[in-house]
Amino acid sequence: MSDDMIAGNLTVRDVGARDEADVRKLVAAAFPSDMEARLVEKLRHCGALVLEQVALNADGKILGHIAYSRVTPAAIGPGQGLQVACLAPVSVWPEAQRQGVGTALITASLKRLNELGEDLVLVLGPPSYYPRFGFDPVLARKVQGPYAGDAFMALALTEAGSRDLPIEVAFATPFEEFE
Ligand SMILES: CC(C)(COP(=O)(O)OP(=O)(O)OC[C@H]1O[C@@H](n2cnc3c(N)ncnc32)[C@H](O)[C@@H]1OP(=O)(O)O)[C@@H](O)C(=O)NCCC(=O)NCCS
Repeated sequence: MSDDMIAGNLTVRDVGARDEADVRKLVAAAFPSDMEARLVEKLRHCGALVLEQVALNADGKILGHIAYSRVTPAAIGPGQGLQVACLAPVSVWPEAQRQGVGTALITASLKRLNELGEDLVLVLGPPSYYPRFGFDPVLARKVQGPYAGDAFMALALTEAGSRDLPIEVAFATPFEEFE
């Protein structure tokens, strides 16, 4: 389990079984419906999560949550050996938003994914937010799958992650039910 002090009093660590009820409440509060909270639980239960982390304040209250799930490259092509993950969802308690929690969580978890040997990270989200972490819609055009457009972005964590493209990918099954 990683346990990194980020900045000030924020800590980022892996999710444990004891956190699951708090995470469900947090994710449901961050989004208009509980669809994302159910997505997290489905991804967790089907074993699709590559990394799941929370950000806590000095009192140990969970302020933010992030999940990355396995993306499967097509069996044929140069990128078939790449380790690819999808960032979704990321959630911060409404009253704790715009205070750097999301930034700390995304930055720390990307570092952890790098340590875990992930080559490429994909995200579908606001083009005004994710490029600050290095996510690029132009790189994502080399990733063929169910998503396209400027909201679909990619970040290579290794040389292979940008070199062994284009690739065709499939997302974890719970994303199909999420549509
Ligand atoms: C998106 C979210 C995770 C960001 O976390 P956060 O702790 O509020 O963000 P930070 O304080 O680290 O960063 C603030 C910056 O993010 C931007 N931002 C926050 N939410 C945003 C959104 N939905 N779209 C675009 N930009 C957003 C702010 O404008 C601010 O930008 P600035 O630094 O240029 O002023 C959080 O706002 C959240 O949980 N939102 C609701 C759920 C959601 O939309 N998740 C992402 C879906 S992919």
